[in-house]
Amino acid sequence: MVAIERGRLGLRRTVSGWKRAGARVGVVPTMGALHDGHLSLVRAARADADRVVVTLFVNPRQFNNPEDLAAYPRTEAADADLLAPLGVDLLYVPGGDEIYPPGFDTSVVVGGIDVGLEDAFRPGHFDGVALVVAKLLIQTAADRAYFGEKDFQQLMLVRRLVRDLDLPTGIVGCATVREPDGLALSSRNRRLAAGDRARAPALHAALAAAAGRLADGRPAAPVVDAARAAVLAAGWSSVEYLALRRASDLAPLDAATEPARLLAAAWLGGVRLIDNVAVRAG
Ligand code: PAJ
Repeated sequence: MVAIERGRLGLRRTVSGWKRAGARVGVVPTMGALHDGHLSLVRAARADADRVVVTLFVNPRQFNNPEDLAAYPRTEAADADLLAPLGVDLLYVPGGDEIYPPGFDTSVVVGGIDVGLEDAFRPGHFDGVALVVAKLLIQTAADRAYFGEKDFQQLMLVRRLVRDLDLPTGIVGCATVREPDGLALSSRNRRLAAGDRARAPALHAALAAAAGRLADGRPAAPVVDAARAAVLAAGWSSVEYLALRRASDLAPLDAATEPARLLAAAWLGGVRLIDNVAVRAG
C-alpha cells in the first residue's frame, strides 16, 4: 500500500519531517494512468533520493481541448497498486482546490519556448504546465524532480522555469521508454483502435531512420520530407510537425551540425501522439 495524501498542508508536514531528519526528497509529477514510462521515472527517483513523492493531478489548465480533458483516463486505484512495489513514500493526489483555491489568479508564463512545436498546436498548454509544475515543486519542496524526454519541449520548459524563478529543485531528464516495436509508451496509446495500434510504430521508425541519415550533417529538408511521407504512407491521418531542432534550445536547424533532436506530433485515428529522438551531430 502507498500512503495517499490529498491536502497540501499534510504534504508539507510530512515532507518537513523528512527534511528535518536529513532526507533528500525526489518528486515525480504525473497525471496518472501510469505506465512503464512513468514507473521508470519513479525508479530513477528511488535510486537517487531518500524519500520519493509521486504526484497525481489531471491539470485542467493544460488541456486546450475540453474533450481531451474529459477523455483523460482516471485510474487512481490501479496507479496506487503499480506504485506500491516500487517503494514510493507518498502519493500526493491534490483536489482541485489544493492547486487552484478559490480566488486563485496568478499566471506563470515561461518565455523562449514559442518555437513552433507543441506551443503552436496546443495554445495555452505550456502556461498550464508551467503553473502546475511550479506549484507542485513548491508544494512538495522536492530537492529533485524527474521528467521524461518523451515530452522533450516540456522538459526544456521545466528546466527554464526552475532556472528563471530560482526554484531550488534539480531537474533530472529520463530516457523515453518504448514498446518492443518502438512505440513510445503513452497513456493515449490505450485509445488506439487495434488496426491503428499496428500502424503506430511507424512514427518512431521514421524518426529513427531519419536520425540515422541526418547524423552525417547532410541537408535536413529532403530527409525530413521523406520521414513525413513515410508516416502518412503507414496510414497516419496527419503530421502536425516533424522537425529537426537544436537540442540545446529547439531552434530550427537545416542540418545536424550540432547536437540535435528530431521531434514530431501526428494524428493516428482520433489520437494525437508525440515522439522525438536524438540526432548525433555530423
Ligand atoms: P504525464 O503525461 O502523466 O507524464 C508524467 C511524466 O512521465 C512526464 O515527465 C513525461 O515526460 C513522463 N513520460 C511519459 N511517457 C513516458 C515514456 N514513454 N518514457 C519516459 N517518460 C515518460 O507530463 C505530464 O504528465 C504533465 O504535463 C505534468 C508534468 C505532470 C504536469 O501536469
